[in-house]
Amino acid sequence: MKPTQSDVNAQDTDGLEGTGFDALVDKALSRRSLLKGGMAAGMLGFFSLSPMAQAVAAAMEPSRLMGFKAIKASTDDAIVLPAGYRSSILMSWGDPVLPGAPEFDHTGGNSAADQALQFGDNTDGMSLFHFRKADGSLDMDRAMLAVNNEYTNGEHMLQHGEVKTAEDVAKLQAAHGVTIVEVRRTSGNAWEYVKDSAYNRRLHANSEFMLTGPAAGHELMKTAADSSGTKVLGTINNCANGRTPWGTYLTCEENFNGYFGAPSDEAVPAQQKQYYGIKAAEDRYRWWQHDARFDVSQTPNEPNRFGWVVEIDPFDTASTPMKRTALGRVKHENADVLVNKDGHVVVYMGDDERGEHIYKFVSKNKYAEGQDAVNRSLLEDGTLFVAQFAGGDGKEHAGTGRWIELTFGKNGLTPENGFNSQAEVLIHTRQAAKQVEATTMDRPEWISHNPNNGQVFCTLTNNKNRGKKDDQPLNAANPRAENHYGQIIRWEAKDGDHTADTFDWDLYLLAGNPRVHEGSLYAGSDAINADNMFNSPDGLGFDSDGRLWILTDGDDSNAGDFAGMGNNQMLCGDPASGEIRRFMVGPVGAEVTGLTFSDDYKTMFVGIQHPTGGFPDYRDGGKPRSSIVMVTREDGGVIGA
Ligand code: FEO
Ligand code: CA
Ligand code: CA
Ligand code: CA
Repeated sequence: MKPTQSDVNAQDTDGLEGTGFDALVDKALSRRSLLKGGMAAGMLGFFSLSPMAQAVAAAMEPSRLMGFKAIKASTDDAIVLPAGYRSSILMSWGDPVLPGAPEFDHTGGNSAADQALQFGDNTDGMSLFHFRKADGSLDMDRAMLAVNNEYTNGEHMLQHGEVKTAEDVAKLQAAHGVTIVEVRRTSGNAWEYVKDSAYNRRLHANSEFMLTGPAAGHELMKTAADSSGTKVLGTINNCANGRTPWGTYLTCEENFNGYFGAPSDEAVPAQQKQYYGIKAAEDRYRWWQHDARFDVSQTPNEPNRFGWVVEIDPFDTASTPMKRTALGRVKHENADVLVNKDGHVVVYMGDDERGEHIYKFVSKNKYAEGQDAVNRSLLEDGTLFVAQFAGGDGKEHAGTGRWIELTFGKNGLTPENGFNSQAEVLIHTRQAAKQVEATTMDRPEWISHNPNNGQVFCTLTNNKNRGKKDDQPLNAANPRAENHYGQIIRWEAKDGDHTADTFDWDLYLLAGNPRVHEGSLYAGSDAINADNMFNSPDGLGFDSDGRLWILTDGDDSNAGDFAGMGNNQMLCGDPASGEIRRFMVGPVGAEVTGLTFSDDYKTMFVGIQHPTGGFPDYRDGGKPRSSIVMVTREDGGVIGA
């Protein structure tokens, strides 16, 4: 029998007060056997605490990291937050950003030219960069916010609901890319963006970019319009992001294939079809029908100029953003950047598609503190690796792994196998990963490292093909067939050295539904219960205290396998105790994606993408609009603490 909504929302009755140690241990044991019968002895990782010890620790001591009271699942068309928190809107799709921009027109009357001056659609990954004062200290009240505009919803953007003309295509193109705006703190910890600031910038599908690194200038990068193979127009499908220690923004190009098409299947180059999914007669965006650049029968190399990580100076509107080819060409999710203990810069990256892989870039040169002009070339040159995960000695959901180098001439990346240079290895990154037998994963989305201990976490959002398609068999790291809930994997570099070739890993959590699937792996792992369950973890980020923020992009039907989960949401995890608490629920139809903080962590900026109800304006006949939301505490404290 399916639980009713009120059953599902009933608060956990496991109070922590007034119970003795033995009772707590019993409770941990009984919860474990009750909820996780099928997972006995699971999750025995190399990490410091056994699952039982973790469960007991969690039961004995409420998380010291999380100071808020968890909220229930919700299906309301509203942002829901814990007591003592409030939200407000910073900026919504169509808000004016550049001089001369008109206000958003709810009837859809804004032109392509208007849109190029306004905030783009579908807010996604973002980073906040504080200005510096004359004395070199951070200006806590003034910053630049760089934010991705991933894709467009033609049904809301176009008056006739779908692409029919070149003007329609131009409008969609103008709503893609990146928006960079100045923001200022107003009252309390709320901020507002500065309309018409001289620092504001829109980058879209027709802005100028530069290709740099080993693949720049290669024959496969040249087009009729660009014989240099280095000058590209546009960035598209900018999903998640990264920020570098030298103050630049990274925007990651994801599903670029969807914008390309051709009149016939024969016109699509085999490589693009097989590895990147470009299809003839593409019918979602229809750019190729009105803009020859996206018709691969006319410009077969144009897709090679997309699928990169792009580096942008958020303070210099005259700077040309750089597509960093050394980091590989895949459907990038985000780019998690850290400085290794030896000074090399390491970037972890996921390729979000069923059966794709996790990557690592290690810079050739070392980070030089205070020499940011020099640091700006660190992502131009280095070594790319792809991950292979192995199960470990009888341990369930844990094991060892290794990084396989994707360098021309090594590991079979040779002419016999179709690779003639490092440029080709990078342009055909997915083919290279298959060549070296990287582990197929359940859609690698965001990656984030724990500032407290260097462990790296990656969301594997779901994979309906797992165990179904021959090329995606079950494996230790991806243990569930037709995985519709997702999991979060974590790894620890050998000796804490992120340039090392080997690592240990375990599954930090398996999402699931303990009400519907009691006793099976689909119930989820120990940390998941009827009060905090969710599906499809996607966005992921640590704050400076080590709280792990988990954002979802999943099935919000609240029925069947997803009963009791409600709308998409954000959860907070304490990696030390294993506890997960629901922190925020988004409005109807939306995904919660994109996360950044002010440097005092008193303002959280979070993205609400593709809402379908009344959010954020709730006006008759108005359009739902993707928006950046600010979360603050009524007492002015640190978010989550
Ligand atoms: Fe754009 Fe993988 O989410
Ligand atoms: Ca995502
Ligand atoms: Ca997703
Ligand atoms: Ca999305």
